[in-house]
Amino acid sequence: MELFEAIRNRRSVRVLTEEEVSEREIKELLEAARLAPSAGNIQPWVFVIVRDPDTKKRLAEAALNQFFIEKAPVVIVVFADWNRSRQGYGGRGVNLYCIQDSAAAVENMLLAAVALGLGACWVGAFQEDVVSDVLKVPEGLRPVAIVPVGRPAEKPNPPYKRPLDEVVRYETFQDCDFLRKSYKESFALWLIGDMFVFLSKLWSSNRFKREVLSYVRSKLDPSSSGNGTFEV
Ligand SMILES: Cc1cc2nc3c(=O)[nH]c(=O)nc-3n(C[C@H](O)[C@H](O)[C@H](O)COP(=O)(O)O)c2cc1C
Repeated sequence: MELFEAIRNRRSVRVLTEEEVSEREIKELLEAARLAPSAGNIQPWVFVIVRDPDTKKRLAEAALNQFFIEKAPVVIVVFADWNRSRQGYGGRGVNLYCIQDSAAAVENMLLAAVALGLGACWVGAFQEDVVSDVLKVPEGLRPVAIVPVGRPAEKPNPPYKRPLDEVVRYETFQDCDFLRKSYKESFALWLIGDMFVFLSKLWSSNRFKREVLSYVRSKLDPSSSGNGTFEV
């Protein structure tokens, strides 16, 4: 299959048949993954192949009950070996390179799956500590993706992809007021949301509620016992 065809045809496939995926096919996926680029060619990745039904179920639970994971004939869990990257690059290796490197490996694997006629999905929403516990992961490794693999039992419609003119800028960000505006807007929304959470937490603390009510009462009726001030 031609590369651009594989890139265009790749979809997140969540519905898979029960048909087994052969060792040869898995090997091809892993081969594609291990050939990915990595900072300093450190190759800070480890792939765990899971076929055991109970382990798959526990992984699905760790992934916030995404049960399609459990139904896949095989699940590949990708780990970033941050300890390895730390030796080469310190903090940047731990926080950035090992994650980028493993992500490149995952994408290679997903494209290889398309070329082999397999279906797969990059699952990133999971509780890392639970996954590490289930797979008895040693220190120094961080799970970055769970990839259920099988034969597609669905052909998802291509989702919306942002057009090039929206995501490409030439030379600098000079003529890019909309990005700055969008940052300010989302910052304001984030702030309001955070304040709302903070205030609702305060409100649910009984002492604060009592003080506010007593303050309001004292303002409405100065003869009541409140002194017109309140403390948190
Ligand atoms: C970092 C990352 C995390 C993702 N996590 C999940 C996930 O937890 N569950 C899921 O069903 N899909 C997950 N996806 C798949 C995306 O939903 C999917 O890529 C996106 O909707 C675009 O669809 P496409 O892959 O068919 O182009 C994830 C993808 C990426 C790259």
